[in-house]
Amino acid sequence: MTEPRRFLGLETSCDETAAAVFTEEPRILSSVVASQHQVHAPYGGVVPELAARAHLRNLLPVIRNALTQADTRLEDLSAIAVHHRPGLVGALVVGVSAAKMLSVMLRVPLLGVSHLEGHVYASQLAAGRDIFPAVAVIVSGGHTQLMLARAADQLELLGQTKDDAAGEALDKAAALMGLGFPGGPAIEREAEGGNPKRFPLPRPLLHEGLDFSFSGLKTALLYTWQGLVRDQGEKAARLARPDLAASLQAAVADVITTKAIRALKQTGLNSLAVCGGVACNKRLRSQLEEATRKAGVALHIPPPSLCTDNAAMAAVSLERWRKGQFAPPDLDALPH
Ligand code: KG4
Ligand code: ZN
Repeated sequence: MTEPRRFLGLETSCDETAAAVFTEEPRILSSVVASQHQVHAPYGGVVPELAARAHLRNLLPVIRNALTQADTRLEDLSAIAVHHRPGLVGALVVGVSAAKMLSVMLRVPLLGVSHLEGHVYASQLAAGRDIFPAVAVIVSGGHTQLMLARAADQLELLGQTKDDAAGEALDKAAALMGLGFPGGPAIEREAEGGNPKRFPLPRPLLHEGLDFSFSGLKTALLYTWQGLVRDQGEKAARLARPDLAASLQAAVADVITTKAIRALKQTGLNSLAVCGGVACNKRLRSQLEEATRKAGVALHIPPPSLCTDNAAMAAVSLERWRKGQFAPPDLDALPH
């Protein structure tokens, strides 16, 4: 019996350097992620120039690790897949250049895929079966979008944020409250045992349409935090922080859950795929579970390791590979 073909996927769109080896079935043989959180933590957000430099340092060791863990040699690879859009251009260029070089050197096809399609595909990968057509919710540090997904690589925009992405709002709120970076996991930890009803934060655009807005929520949090510090002092404000973090998390989860259910009703679909870093959030996951159970809809959220940026999701390129839709040797890194 012939061995299934093997592929290398690369991801360098933001602040994770990642490589994965997967087969055409698909089966993920390895998925290695080197996080740059420590590089960006002092700045409270991702610094594009530092991200690009860290990718340069990390990418070759990460590729080597992914190949070793998958017991795969470079010569065993049938194609190289890379997320070439959207993202920070300087960061993307590192992965795209490496992918081009490997494709020329090994004389195998180059596959250029969208990071967003990769995120949506992660839900299918985790489910292990076809979950499309579905409504897809992408909630990450750079994006908050609702999509009609006919397939992972056939996405039609239904709604998106008019300002900040959900993860960006959580990152900024955490920085404001001195909780560190990345903010989403820090807020989640702080919110444990907190009272989500103590601070009535706004749920922007909750009752209308499929677009999102998180900047007003961020401002409301800023004023609440400043009011606490001013009226009660730093120490009391810090004691109120678990309640404030829980209230913020609840507001974000309410908005995302309500919009996702609205999109399902509008499209008549009964499958919901939720992906991106914010989809790791336990509060959001449990609200989505409850709402989809009530609505009789199948929910597909990958495990946290497949929600945050990784290269296993570059297996979305397999469809393109099957159709022979290879990328040109001068494939561009694109911000959008
Ligand atoms: O998908 P991702 O890894 O990178 C982008 O494509 O942006 O998402 C990163 C975002 C960050 O804003 C981070 O704070 C957020 O996902 N995040 C979380 C959690 N883990 C990561 N937000 C809420 N709860 C979490 N547990
Ligand atoms: Zn992402």
